Amino acid sequence: MTQKHLLKLGDWSTADIMETLELADKLKYENKHGIRHHHLAGQTLGMIFQKSSTRTRVSFETGMYQLGGQALFLSNRDLQIGRGEPVEDTARVLSRYLDGIMIRTFAQQEVEDLAKYGCIPIINGLTDYCHPCQVLADLQTIREYKGDLAGRKLCFIGDGNNMANSLIVGGIKTGMKVSVACPDGYQPDADIMKWAAENGDFTCTSDVKEAAADADALYTDVWASMGQEQEALERQKIFAGYQINADVMKVAADKAMVMHCLPAHRGEEITADVLEAHANEIFDEAENRLHAQKAVMVLLMSK
Ligand code: CP
Ligand code: NVA
Repeated sequence: MTQKHLLKLGDWSTADIMETLELADKLKYENKHGIRHHHLAGQTLGMIFQKSSTRTRVSFETGMYQLGGQALFLSNRDLQIGRGEPVEDTARVLSRYLDGIMIRTFAQQEVEDLAKYGCIPIINGLTDYCHPCQVLADLQTIREYKGDLAGRKLCFIGDGNNMANSLIVGGIKTGMKVSVACPDGYQPDADIMKWAAENGDFTCTSDVKEAAADADALYTDVWASMGQEQEALERQKIFAGYQINADVMKVAADKAMVMHCLPAHRGEEITADVLEAHANEIFDEAENRLHAQKAVMVLLMSK
């Protein structure tokens, strides 16, 4: 592992990602067989949340416990950062107490600043820009179901949001073909799309079936992300049709898997029947958050 932090997948090499996936598989195997190694005994992870969370909070907290350490849930409502204490001061103070920080917030810059001013590993637990922890778990899940990543086609349908950005980067870095279908004006980050087109097999279209054709994995996410609640009604109209449903499944590859980072809105970005038919993949994907993040913490925080 050549990295000190996980701020975004764009910073990580293919080798860093593959090393993490290998360790995630090993930790998952050990967990299933009741083997627990306290790689992070005595260490404390601070978890700063400026947005809601089920999976990220519980998987990091449980993962830290399983590794012999402890996790502190630090809500924005209680921290001085929520009252305006600068991130550069918060970073330097928390670095004196903690061994690592996981942060979920709005601006990517806040995560980058924590790393700049602090001196402990910083892990991005979702920003408006990206969600790298989720995509490491996603890649682990695709490998489990498909055996490999290189040459497989990953299709994302919906809003060009934080999930789309990280899936493009993670998919291209691991040799996958990546296609995105989204309405005009809701494309993923322009710099990420430019990088993807220059570094791999990447397409972005407004045509759902064109993007989904022969895909090995179809992925979607909510139409309105956290922080966009007031746009939800308008987005329901704009995104109508950007849905994984039985019709879209017909153009995907045989035995295509369906993925969702969750939480899901049935009847919007995915139909209830498709979600339930692919519940195995989707909840394995959720489970893998635990294993992939334990791997990230071990690789970044082991002393
Ligand atoms: N997928 C995901 O990050 O879920 P939470 O918002 O529940 O953490
Ligand atoms: N795009 C979603 C992902 C939730 C895990 C959001 O940011 O709310």
